[in-house]
Amino acid sequence: MNTRDTLKTGKNGHLFIGGADCVELAEKYSTPLYVYDKKYIEDICGVYRDTLEKEYGEGRVLYASKAFSCKGIYKLIDKLGLGADVVSGGELYTALEGGISAQKLVMHGNNKTDAELKFAVESGVGVIVCDAYSEIERLSALCESKDTVQKIMLRVNPGVEAHTHHFVQTATPDSKFGFSMMNGDAVRAIELALSSKGVRLIGLHCHIGSQIFEKESFALAAEKMTDFYKKIKDELGYEFEALNLGGGFGIYYTDDDKKLSVEGYADYIRVIAQTLKKCILKKGLKKPFLFLEPGRSIVGEAGITLYTVGNIKNIIGIKNYAAVDGGMFESPRHALYGSRYTVVAANRMNDKATERYSIAGKCCESGDIIAEDCFLPELKRGDILAVLSTGAYNYSMASNYNRNAVPPVILVENGESDYLVKGQTYEDIARGDADCKLL
Ligand code: LLP
Repeated sequence: MNTRDTLKTGKNGHLFIGGADCVELAEKYSTPLYVYDKKYIEDICGVYRDTLEKEYGEGRVLYASKAFSCKGIYKLIDKLGLGADVVSGGELYTALEGGISAQKLVMHGNNKTDAELKFAVESGVGVIVCDAYSEIERLSALCESKDTVQKIMLRVNPGVEAHTHHFVQTATPDSKFGFSMMNGDAVRAIELALSSKGVRLIGLHCHIGSQIFEKESFALAAEKMTDFYKKIKDELGYEFEALNLGGGFGIYYTDDDKKLSVEGYADYIRVIAQTLKKCILKKGLKKPFLFLEPGRSIVGEAGITLYTVGNIKNIIGIKNYAAVDGGMFESPRHALYGSRYTVVAANRMNDKATERYSIAGKCCESGDIIAEDCFLPELKRGDILAVLSTGAYNYSMASNYNRNAVPPVILVENGESDYLVKGQTYEDIARGDADCKLL
């Protein structure tokens, strides 16, 4: 069982998060239920913000909101002094509705539509990160027609292969993301951007992947990017004023992962800042304004998901299944990536784990498993399970598969709780279904 600070076992043997009894939360809000601990998010954002300032100076931490996007989280992030990265019109809309200032937003996406570019420019988004020649041209033409100039960065691929699942590696030579720094594409994109009147190129962006523990990979990316900044300075006589090194810091899911304290996460930023400072000094570069974009590590460990155990199936000599009232519709990561999680019995934390279970969802396919190899007390119908570290990329990737409702999301602090997102009703699920005239 992990011992992260957000979670405690109460005298009644129940799991507590942010001072709230998980069994009571399950009763009050029903299950499945996404629960976020506000203090964890505040603490880690504080650590990131302060470490960047102390170790590097001029820069901004952007919360990569694809990890978990709703109005409330943008409101909280804004209060904590971070900006955010958004990757779609929908995330941009939600961020603005959440009250974050457009100037503090950076817009990503490898295929932004014309409508998304227009929305971003009209909203006054701080920086747009372009990822195609045609996007630079389309954006520049749009800005010229509006008599404005948009600050942009270019996404480049530095070719750093990080050790993570291949679906979330992003800087391999065959990646769909970024202009390659190896084959001349990036130089051509820079030349195009510099000659485009509607945009002002302030720097380059890279993101090497997600759930990466090796700090050397981030240091290597910083080194390669500054090598490239030097090359551009020497060959094109142009010096960038900003650099964005993306996100990707690994977090704790199971005992196979490194366990860091909240303060321990500062090391990722410390290593990046120190490497970068060394590189710019050595290469005689102007110190760029530094953007970092952690997502998973801000909300991942802050979140848990609560379920009620339903049917239990023991296939003798083969496997024990405990089926819960959720599934791949709200917890898709095991089905997608084979992701692993720690699961605990939230109503019986002091009971000895004696059995091994596969936690199955209620969707109609065998791959609908939430977690494998979970050691738990012998479960019975009605037990409350908590899956830990579910705060990133679960709610944000939820679907209505099998027309299941996306569950509510709540925030807890000092034993108090309230909705961040209300759960869907059946009417919500069927809302878009049209009275088709061909029927
Ligand atoms: N910046 C960019 C440009 C990104 O593409 C990403 C993540 C991040 C920042 C944030 O990375 P993080 O700090 O969260 O690792 N759905 C997958 C993860 C996909 C990550 C996509 N990009 C999962 O569930 O593991």
